[in-house]
Amino acid sequence: MTAPEPRVPGDRELNRFLELFAEKTGMVFPERKRPKLARDLVLAASKTGFTDLAAFRETLEGTPTDHPVWTEVIEILRVGETYFFRDDSQISALTEHVIPDILERRKNSRQVRLWSAGCATGEEPYSLAILLLEQLAGSGEDWDVSILATDIHSRGLETARQGRFRKWSFRNAPERLLNRYFVRHGEDFEVQDRVKQMVHFTSFNMMDDRQPAPAGAMGLDLILWRNMAIYFHPGAISRVARRLSGSLARGGWLLVSPAEAGSFSLDGELHCVLPEAAAYRKEDLEEPVPAAPGIPPRIPVPVLHSPSAEPFPNGWEPGSASKEKEAAGTPPPPPAFDQGLDRLRKGLYEEALTHLGRVDKGHPRRAEALGKAALALANLGRHQEAEKFCALALDADPLLSEARYIQALVRLEQGLDAEAREDLKKALYLNPKFVLAHWTLADLARRRGLPEEAARHRELALDLARNLDPGQELCGAVSLTAGRLLALAGENGSWAKAGGTA
Ligand SMILES: C[S@@+](CC[C@H](N)C(=O)[O-])C[C@H]1O[C@@H](n2cnc3c(N)ncnc32)[C@H](O)[C@@H]1O
Repeated sequence: MTAPEPRVPGDRELNRFLELFAEKTGMVFPERKRPKLARDLVLAASKTGFTDLAAFRETLEGTPTDHPVWTEVIEILRVGETYFFRDDSQISALTEHVIPDILERRKNSRQVRLWSAGCATGEEPYSLAILLLEQLAGSGEDWDVSILATDIHSRGLETARQGRFRKWSFRNAPERLLNRYFVRHGEDFEVQDRVKQMVHFTSFNMMDDRQPAPAGAMGLDLILWRNMAIYFHPGAISRVARRLSGSLARGGWLLVSPAEAGSFSLDGELHCVLPEAAAYRKEDLEEPVPAAPGIPPRIPVPVLHSPSAEPFPNGWEPGSASKEKEAAGTPPPPPAFDQGLDRLRKGLYEEALTHLGRVDKGHPRRAEALGKAALALANLGRHQEAEKFCALALDADPLLSEARYIQALVRLEQGLDAEAREDLKKALYLNPKFVLAHWTLADLARRRGLPEEAARHRELALDLARNLDPGQELCGAVSLTAGRLLALAGENGSWAKAGGTA
């Protein structure tokens, strides 16, 4: 007799799983994926030998993701789409700028170290190896090139090590490279041994801070971290970006996919130097890296996924929308508010909610606490609750421009650009000096193909930021200072004085 399958999880149980996945893997999921995820979870649990979903979740919670108990779950969560020589603009940037720069800088040691972080089934690191071999033609044997290739998905790594691919993987590959670096087996193509030998595959979860960085992940010349951050929540993106930056040599390169450009920023450490290819460089103190002019970096915006079945998060009670008004002047925040803000800055959103929920209903900073809670919820991907909290904050204080701004961010994430624009305008009406409202309107105008309007909002944002203390945190952001915004916009001088953390 076969063991009974677990029941499909309800909203609340599914939310618990999704929070666990966000925490352990960084991945978050759009609303439309929930029904399929719920069904797939049942299958994953049953294939792993569990008949009770709660027990399955508890086991996952206490187990690192490279343990077999996670295998089926990773299988249903990950998106493994990849192919050889993916993204023409990035391949050109690698061929024309990045690899020649690395070879020039390493011409004495003749040692090159690269990392494909999130390599899926291996097409990306093998493409990199081939691009290097092409550039080293004639002198390749004198060079020591090593490419580390990691992924959380161990089954994908098995395919990668075998190095045998279907024709579909070569949909963007020039025929001449196929002939030069692969051996044909019927319909399949196998990477030649000299290419295989350059790449070292190993399992690694980018979100696991307890796991030491894989061997060879220090002093790197180039990291490809492409098409992973698009599935991550903002806190995870910042964490991984920081980790990767730490693994780069000075002057080293980091390439993300163009869709991911601007989704993180690192204290003037990494500069986007080839914006069309989403190529960043690590600051080299001896040779300062110029920042790319012109593009407003995206301020990390909430990623959106599941609504929670619980009407209010822990620590919050319904009925908090009392009509409290701010007293004249800004009263000092209560300790719970400061603790909440501290957790928010550290990306500990659940904890932030608990602390902010302790801000007394009668306290004049209660409305602000509701607004910050909305920001925490949005960062957790709980956008319906985030919207609800924006509404509560505005109910408590209709003049709270920050709540309008956060509402705009949530709407932007839902693709409601027109509504978001209205919110941003309202935020500016309430607070004409709202730097990030102008900044976000600049981004929206650029996306709508209105360069003059974009330039006007951008200049207004920068002018306002220049008039602030560089270390001042900007309204509506977590830990983004005026100085850092100016640095992101290419005004590096200001960043030197800015202080502050990401
Ligand atoms: C869409 S593929 C990208 C493949 C390749 N970089 C490219 O751009 O073609 C994303 C990969 O990220 C991996 N991934 C997702 N979360 C991860 C994590 N926390 N640590 C390591 N790899 C992860 C997935 O398993 C998947 O193979």
